[in-house]
Amino acid sequence: MNQHYDAIILGAGAAGMFCAIEAARRGRRVVVLDHAKAPGEKIRISGGGRCNFTNLHVAPDRFLSANPRFAASALSRYTAADFVARVNKAGIAWHEKTLGQLFCDGSARNIVAMLVRDMAQAGAELRLGVQVADVAATGAGFTITTSDGVLSAAHLVVATGGKSIPKMGATGFGYQIASQFGLPLVETRPGLVPLTFADGSVEQMANLAGLSVPARVGCGKVAFEEGLLFTHRGLSGPSILQISSYWREGTEIVLDLVPGRDLGALLGRARADMPRQAMHTWVAGLLPERLARMVAAQVPGAGALGQLTRGQMAQLQEQLVHWRLRPVGTEGYRTAEVTLGGVDTRALDARRMEARAVKGLFFIGEVVDVTGWLGGYNFQWAWSSGWAAGQVI
Ligand code: FDA
Repeated sequence: MNQHYDAIILGAGAAGMFCAIEAARRGRRVVVLDHAKAPGEKIRISGGGRCNFTNLHVAPDRFLSANPRFAASALSRYTAADFVARVNKAGIAWHEKTLGQLFCDGSARNIVAMLVRDMAQAGAELRLGVQVADVAATGAGFTITTSDGVLSAAHLVVATGGKSIPKMGATGFGYQIASQFGLPLVETRPGLVPLTFADGSVEQMANLAGLSVPARVGCGKVAFEEGLLFTHRGLSGPSILQISSYWREGTEIVLDLVPGRDLGALLGRARADMPRQAMHTWVAGLLPERLARMVAAQVPGAGALGQLTRGQMAQLQEQLVHWRLRPVGTEGYRTAEVTLGGVDTRALDARRMEARAVKGLFFIGEVVDVTGWLGGYNFQWAWSSGWAAGQVI
C-alpha cells in the first residue's frame, strides 16, 4: 500500500476529524490515526450523552490562554453559526439548554456519525487501534512509525487532545511531540473539574452531598453564577467547574448563596416584619433545609431575627454572601473535562495553526493552550482550529 499522504492527522477526536474533512474536501490525501478503537469517544460521552456542541456566545474572552487573542482568528473565521449550519444539514435536531449552550435533542453519537460519514464521503482515511511509536522530520515532511507500518506526509497535524480522562485514551503525546520539535509548552493542569477540600470542610460538604443550589462563585476578579453541587469530596456543579479553571492552589473561592438578591435589605425587612421569627426558620426560606441548618450553625447563639446582634448579622451575611473557602485541590485529570495549558500559542501561527519554526507541523484542538469555558466552547475551539488547519494542509 502507498503509505504517502498529503497530511497525517494524529487523533480522531473533534479537532482531528473536522480538520480531515476540510482537507479531504480540498482534494488532499489525508489519513487520521488513533490508538483508540472508536473515533470521537469524548464527543460520545460529552454533554451527558447529548454533546453540547457549541455556544451562541462564543467570543475570545471566554477562553483561557497565556495569549488571549490567539483564538480570535480561527473562532471568527469558522463560527458557531457555521457549525450549526453543518448540524442542520446533517438533520440533527438540537436545542438551546441555557446560556447559549446548544445540545443534540438525541444522542451525541449523531455528531460522531456525522463526522465519520463526512470524512468517508470526502475520501479521508480513518485508521483506528494504531500505536504511534515514532515521529520524525525528513527534509520533505514527516515520517510516522506505527503499528500499521511507516507513513509519510508533507504535513503532520497533532490533534491528540489533552490529558483529561486517561481511561478514555488521553495521553500527553501531543506535548511530547511539541517538545521533540523544540516548541515551548505552557504548564498543564486540570480544568472544568470539581474542587476538593481538607478535613473539616469536607465533612461539612459531605453532609450536604447531593444538594444543588444556584450560586455565584468567585475567585479573584472572576465569578460565575450557575448551579453549585455539594459532593462527598467537596464541590462541583457548573459554577465550580467554571471557577476551577481560574483557581490556583493556595487561593480562596467565595460563594454567594443568594445571588442577585440584596441580603441586607431582605434581612432588614424581615427583622421589621417578623422580629420573633427564628433566624434559622428565615434562612430556611432562602435555602434548602439542610444547607440552612449548616449556615445557621455558623452563627452561634442566634435566636429571633429581632434580637440578632450586629456581629451575628455580619456573620450571617458573611456565611450567605461571602462564604470563603480554601480548596486543597481538584479531582484531577480523572474527572476534569479539559486540560488547561499546552502547546504555547506564541509558537504557532494563529491563522494556520502551524508551528512558526517547523514548516508543515500543526497543532489543533485541546492540545493547544486554548481552553474554553464550560458550555460548548471547547468543541467550538476544536471545530474552528481544525477548520483553520484544514484550509492550508
Ligand atoms: P479529543 O480528546 O477529543 O481527541 C483526541 C484523540 O487523540 C482521541 O481520540 C485520543 O484517543 C487520540 N490520542 C491521544 N493520544 C494518542 C496517541 N498517543 N496516539 C494516537 N491517538 C491518540 N466540550 C464541549 O464543548 N461540550 C461538552 O459538552 C463537553 N463535554 C465533555 C464531557 C466530558 C466528560 C469531557 C471529558 C470533556 C467534555 N468536553 C466538552 C471537552 C471536549 O470533549 C474536548 O475539549 C474536545 O474533545 C477536544 O477535542 P480534541 O479533538 O482536541 O481532543
